[in-house]
Amino acid sequence: MTASRDIACRVRGFGAYTPVDVLTNFDLEKFVETTDEWITTRTGIKQRHRLAEGQNASDAATEAARLALADAGMEPGEITHVINATCTPDYLCPNTACLVEAKLGIMGAMAFDFNAACSGYVYGLSMARAIVAAQPDARVLLTATEALTRRLNWADRTTCVLFGDGAGASVITADGEGALLEDVLCASDGNLGGLLTIGGGTHTPYAKGDPVGEDFFVQMNGRDVFKHAVRNMAAISQDVLARNGLTTDDVALLIPHQANLRIIEAVGDRLGVPAERVFVNLHEFGNTSAASVPLAIADARAKGVLRPGMRVLLATFGGGFTWGAALLHF
Ligand SMILES: CC(C)(COP(=O)(O)OP(=O)(O)OC[C@H]1O[C@@H](n2cnc3c(N)ncnc32)[C@H](O)[C@@H]1OP(=O)(O)O)[C@@H](O)C(=O)NCCC(=O)NCCS
Repeated sequence: MTASRDIACRVRGFGAYTPVDVLTNFDLEKFVETTDEWITTRTGIKQRHRLAEGQNASDAATEAARLALADAGMEPGEITHVINATCTPDYLCPNTACLVEAKLGIMGAMAFDFNAACSGYVYGLSMARAIVAAQPDARVLLTATEALTRRLNWADRTTCVLFGDGAGASVITADGEGALLEDVLCASDGNLGGLLTIGGGTHTPYAKGDPVGEDFFVQMNGRDVFKHAVRNMAAISQDVLARNGLTTDDVALLIPHQANLRIIEAVGDRLGVPAERVFVNLHEFGNTSAASVPLAIADARAKGVLRPGMRVLLATFGGGFTWGAALLHF
């Protein structure tokens, strides 16, 4: 478990982007053996957004980044680091952060990707905090972007109904106006990695001309993932609160990873946070993995649910397994 407390760190701008194309549960019914009723009752998801042909994770991240920079009142040229969370990059190389940098019309920043699956944004906050601690004049652009619909097996109804595309972004500095990152905790258990996979790496060596196999797409043991997600999101949330002398009574809003409404409700129950203080928007977007938390933050602000003065608890869980929690004071 890693931690970085007592370091001044402000999250100064937020932005989010979802593609125009929407796939409703009723659209899925037409080509997957499923129903709106099943998806709604088991997950809470009603629709998800899908990148257009030719539009990639870097494009979504760039749109979100522009909005985050505008929200922070900053120009792209002020950015010193671009750090990008994704498990569905445009390429294995070059990294998506470099593509975002180029699309923003800048060069020279330190730019790299990292993969913590759905925990990417919270992991990114932890890394951004470490960067500004080491370099107090750093201006970090954190993007979290996914093109998951490109890695769904549309013949596997147990996974393809769950995910969507989108991106979120934030600008992080040591000072200035913005939400104070009070604390962040990240953890993992690689022994459980096989329960949620997306192949296409060098583990399965493809030869030129080979068709891709099922391993190329999202594969998941949903029931096991569900149990670990609830247990670990709740536990790490309690840990980050406890070590700051806080309880959930001190939290105005819980913004959890938007994977499944039943997971979110179970985490809220374990933490004793009533439903009206838990933000949910997965009915609109599905599970957008790393993008889900920053997408939810931007959405909660836009809807007036998240307001200045509020302390927000972020909780995430994803493939790896990875999980994390953060306290942001707006
Ligand atoms: C995937 C998930 C929704 C499945 O819900 P569940 O209640 O566990 O359902 P089960 O897997 O037990 O399946 C129940 C039945 O529904 C069927 N089913 C699965 N997907 C279906 C779908 N899209 N439409 C209709 N039926 C479906 C199954 O085949 C099974 O049928 P059977 O009993 O005849 O075998 C749930 O396990 C889950 O959300 N897990 C967490 C996944 C997640 O969020 N992962 C990302 C974390 S970052």
